[in-house]
Amino acid sequence: MPVDVVVGAHWGDEGKGKIAAALSTDAHACARFQGGPNAGHTVVLPTGATLVLRSLPSGLAVGSAGVIGGGCVVNPAMLLDEISTVEAVTGSLEGRLVVSSRAHVITDEHLATDRGGGAVGSTRMGVGPAYAAKMQRSGVRMGDLVGPGEVPGVDPSLRARVKERLSDAVQDERPVIRGWIDAGLRVVAEGAQGARLDIDHGDYPFVTSSNTTVGAALTGLGLGPRDIDRVLLVTPTYVTKVGGGTLPHRLSRVPERLLRQRGNEVDGATGSVRDVARLDLRWLRAAAVLNQATGIILTKVDVFLDDHPLEVVGPDGDVVCLPWWTEQDAAAPLNSGPIRRFVALVEQAVGAPVVAVSHGPAVGDLAWT
Ligand code: IMP
Ligand code: MG
Repeated sequence: MPVDVVVGAHWGDEGKGKIAAALSTDAHACARFQGGPNAGHTVVLPTGATLVLRSLPSGLAVGSAGVIGGGCVVNPAMLLDEISTVEAVTGSLEGRLVVSSRAHVITDEHLATDRGGGAVGSTRMGVGPAYAAKMQRSGVRMGDLVGPGEVPGVDPSLRARVKERLSDAVQDERPVIRGWIDAGLRVVAEGAQGARLDIDHGDYPFVTSSNTTVGAALTGLGLGPRDIDRVLLVTPTYVTKVGGGTLPHRLSRVPERLLRQRGNEVDGATGSVRDVARLDLRWLRAAAVLNQATGIILTKVDVFLDDHPLEVVGPDGDVVCLPWWTEQDAAAPLNSGPIRRFVALVEQAVGAPVVAVSHGPAVGDLAWT
């Protein structure tokens, strides 16, 4: 069972990109299974170089192979730009990138439809309209772009660039992934967004247009449940949100501003400032149950307030003050009494083990318990 699935517990921006990259340093491949360039996965490399990945899987940043699965939607022009940006840091992705021929294309028409963001305050990347076209059976797929037929609605010069750069990469990803699995090679399945944005299980209608929970890793990559080893649910010590809908337990102005500054809570994909709220352990538990998480990964323990303790919403809905910790605690989280008490509180409330604690933005800032 060589597949590890990484999913977000809330509204995205939990730090999945960094976790997927860290896992991919020991894996053969990393595969995105849903969403599109509405995602913004930030990977800070040991050299200090920072990459914000929108469509490409985060493992590519650390040298693994990468797959954009059939469950994703792709903006081809953005993808070509992103490939160039990543290649400037990592060297050529030639032979390392597979783009599913079944992934749907975000067209100019989809972008125009999504331009205002609509009532849900979308990222305006055309993701919702592209998935709508897929469901209406009127979509264009990546395989169409590199194929011989007519493709109305796609600029011919863009199509020529796609053919030139991606003809080899665009293929049926399923036999490729199956080959890796059969050879016992480890694959990281990287989710985008988070459980509260799931089209079926999230806060409808303030959701994204794909499933962001574990089942999408199967349908989006052509896997079966028995392929999965670990399901890793990523949560920060506080939660953030952009776009429409309400954010329960939002912090007051001063702590929100401090956490925003210290956590650099500006959206990687859209540049919008994120609202900040207390972590609700009841929801975290629900997300763990929904995903059947085998482990929780706690992120951003290095982002905290100096003079007042961080608060979370406990199992009974009451506000719980966390034991206060310092920079030294955050630097070595597993040796820290206060952080260990927090970990114990999470494990008890959620009913799943905390398997790793992320204590800084870089890929290496991760302590496995
Ligand atoms: P869409 O996915 O662009 O259609 O936007 C739908 C909702 O999901 C909006 O509230 C977005 O702000 C939110 N959203 C989509 N992708 C992300 C993400 O990667 N991080 C955080 N919020 C997201
Ligand atoms: Mg993001």
